[in-house]
Amino acid sequence: MSASAKPRLAGRQPSVRGRGAPGEDQARHAGCWVSRDKGRFLLSPLAFRTAASDDVDRIAALHADSWRRHYRGAFADSFLDGDVEADRSAVWSARLAPTADRSGSATILAELDDRLLGFIHVAFDDDPRWGSLIDNLHVRHDQRRTGIGRQLLVRGAMAVTARAINHGMYLWVLAQNVAAQRFYEAHGGAVTETEPTHAPGGDPSRVNGASRSLRIAWSDAARVVAAD
Ligand SMILES: CC(C)(COP(=O)(O)OP(=O)(O)OC[C@H]1O[C@@H](n2cnc3c(N)ncnc32)[C@H](O)[C@@H]1OP(=O)(O)O)[C@@H](O)C(=O)NCCC(=O)NCCS
Repeated sequence: MSASAKPRLAGRQPSVRGRGAPGEDQARHAGCWVSRDKGRFLLSPLAFRTAASDDVDRIAALHADSWRRHYRGAFADSFLDGDVEADRSAVWSARLAPTADRSGSATILAELDDRLLGFIHVAFDDDPRWGSLIDNLHVRHDQRRTGIGRQLLVRGAMAVTARAINHGMYLWVLAQNVAAQRFYEAHGGAVTETEPTHAPGGDPSRVNGASRSLRIAWSDAARVVAAD
């Protein structure tokens, strides 16, 4: 059996092949990944869970890698090539500290065989008008366009409907990040306005002053869940 001749499983059928780590050949199939490793075929379920304090290092590493790849031009090279990993580490250490009050947010991870493939972080009822803020959504570079972002967004929306008072949700996406804008449009998000890009940690030296970001909003997170 080749990786493209996948076993038939119930549920949503795959439309794309993933790009696995070197030496692997992966294909998405109904929430499972068929991987070919040293001539053997493996079927592994993609697992989702809430992040814990010992996940800080790998979330920060994936986050920094994603910013370096996709935010260059909007964020200063000196930041991306310098402090970005320490900055993300500090943010995630504070968010996931054992003593942190996590009642106002959710961080959901997507994992395959203990490998972190993506994450979403949602701050509930962040804004009285727009609702909950999707503060971060990142998929590992070599796993983009395999459905992980969709599954994380749906789980983030489910958390909003379950835990927020206002069921609206929104996020900021860089104007230069057209691929992510297409992803949000495909999931019902609408651009409402643009603003200068917020500087990470409030430090203006970390951002290109000309960079702008678009607010993408959903009036009801339940529609994202229902459309899945
Ligand atoms: C944006 C991101 C989260 C999307 O996640 P993903 O796993 O790559 O996207 P999915 O495979 O779930 O895409 C689902 C659907 O969205 C749409 N979509 C996704 N990426 C798209 C693109 N580049 N162009 C057009 N449509 C796109 C498609 O309809 C796609 O379905 P299809 O592949 O069956 O056609 C991910 O690519 C990523 O992490 N990018 C880098 C970091 C980033 O920009 N994060 C967002 C910050 S605001």
